Amino acid sequence: MTKCFGECTIVDRYTATVMRCDKIGLVGPNGAGKTTLLKLILGELQPDDGRVRVSTNLQVAYFDQMCAQLDLDKSLADTISPGSEWVEVNGVKKHVMSYLGDFLFAPERVRPANVLVLDEPTNDLDIPTLELLEELLADYDGTVLLVSHDRAFFDNVVMSVFAAEGGGAWREYVGGFSDWQIQRERSERIAEEAARQSARKRRKTTRSRKARPGATCSAR
Ligand SMILES: Nc1ncnc2c1ncn2[C@@H]1O[C@H](COP(=O)(O)OP(=O)(O)O)[C@@H](O)[C@H]1O
Ligand SMILES: [Mg+2]
Repeated sequence: MTKCFGECTIVDRYTATVMRCDKIGLVGPNGAGKTTLLKLILGELQPDDGRVRVSTNLQVAYFDQMCAQLDLDKSLADTISPGSEWVEVNGVKKHVMSYLGDFLFAPERVRPANVLVLDEPTNDLDIPTLELLEELLADYDGTVLLVSHDRAFFDNVVMSVFAAEGGGAWREYVGGFSDWQIQRERSERIAEEAARQSARKRRKTTRSRKARPGATCSAR
């Protein structure tokens, strides 16, 4: 698919498949188009060219929307159970972690979400809440689409990465943020080496041409 906003190409002929239970992270600088690509994948935004096929039973939940209802000055757990690790729900004492798990991903909810979208959820969350969220996502039996600048959190959650490589180019890498960096650096090194070799070849050709009899000066 391809998506442009005015002169700006956000997604340039990108093809990808998101399977049930995939945990995919989107990386790229601000304004690269991560949110736009998320919306395209979810069918909320139409591509200019190409098409997106979305499963019919998609139930999408946005983590931001849940966070917006909570007091972000406190940790998620503190908001729910101030000063204690335990909450009482319908007369039953529950650990706050287990309660949060129910709250986010309860199977008894009428339409449990099967796709969870977290678009920069980590900016306002403290470390205990991030760790809690990490645990919940590891056990989550659904698809996760994540944008986060928190590398550790990102690495612990995602299985593969859709990376913005400039000018609307996107590429898929297996692994997390660190794997993406290693693979990207490796491919950049290979590209640089190839460029150096071809420049060397070009210089050699120029030199041998200029060294022909009749040449007015020698090449350096
Ligand atoms: N509805 C829109 N109309 C015009 N331009 C948009 C719209 N949505 C996003 N953009 C532009 O597209 C680019 C990518 O935006 P976005 O997907 O929000 O990036 P990211 O999430 O990676 O920060 C930005 O330059 C943004 O200003
Ligand atoms: Mg965004």
